[in-house]
Amino acid sequence: MASYLEIADDEKGHELDLFCVPRHYENDLEKVIIPHGLIMDRTERLARDIIRDMGGHHIVALCVLKGGYKFFADLLDYIKALNQNSDKSVPLTVDFIRVKSYCNDKSTDNVKVIGGDELSNLSGKDIVETGRTMQTLLSLLSECNPKMVKVVSLLVKRTPRSSGYRPDYIGFEVPDSFLVGYALDYNEYFRDLSHICILNDQAKEKYKV
Ligand code: IMP
Ligand code: MG
Repeated sequence: MASYLEIADDEKGHELDLFCVPRHYENDLEKVIIPHGLIMDRTERLARDIIRDMGGHHIVALCVLKGGYKFFADLLDYIKALNQNSDKSVPLTVDFIRVKSYCNDKSTDNVKVIGGDELSNLSGKDIVETGRTMQTLLSLLSECNPKMVKVVSLLVKRTPRSSGYRPDYIGFEVPDSFLVGYALDYNEYFRDLSHICILNDQAKEKYKV
């Protein structure tokens, strides 16, 4: 079982004005739940665990866009740093796939997948809620008969809606609320926010489609 940093259900988070958030989002956020620095520290450790487990295997790193792009880039930077500073290293190539399943703050049954032209054995993802998106993607990938597929997700949500699916590597386990920032969006907004934050109800209305 993958280890993770648990953010408790009663986690109060941090006041917004203790951190730097863009002016245009100041009135939309409730609390900072995971500050950017903590995301980076945890990601650094995930990189170390991945390299340890991969042996000398070539990794095709597949980024699940759009929500996974920040995590993917930072995770790969840490993997690169390990590769260039130790006796052991693994060759790395990258690919990108786009997945869309969300409208407002609700998951839909309709998972759309666009792009990706190579087989992958390591997928970098933003968040697993029900697990439906990842399961759809995994069944698509298995048609390509990859040697091995490992999934790394920055966040996993504790929710009764979960299908039971768990990624191979997990950054944080988070409460069942809608989170934004660090590339996680609400109808495309809030990707340009460094910290992972809780959205307030007023903002859910303001950015509703
Ligand atoms: P699942 O298929 O229910 O696991 O949902 C996974 C996808 O839903 C993620 O890749 C996100 O795009 C989106 N998602 C789920 N929860 C959140 C959230 O709290 N904030 C932003 N996007 C979310
Ligand atoms: Mg989204």
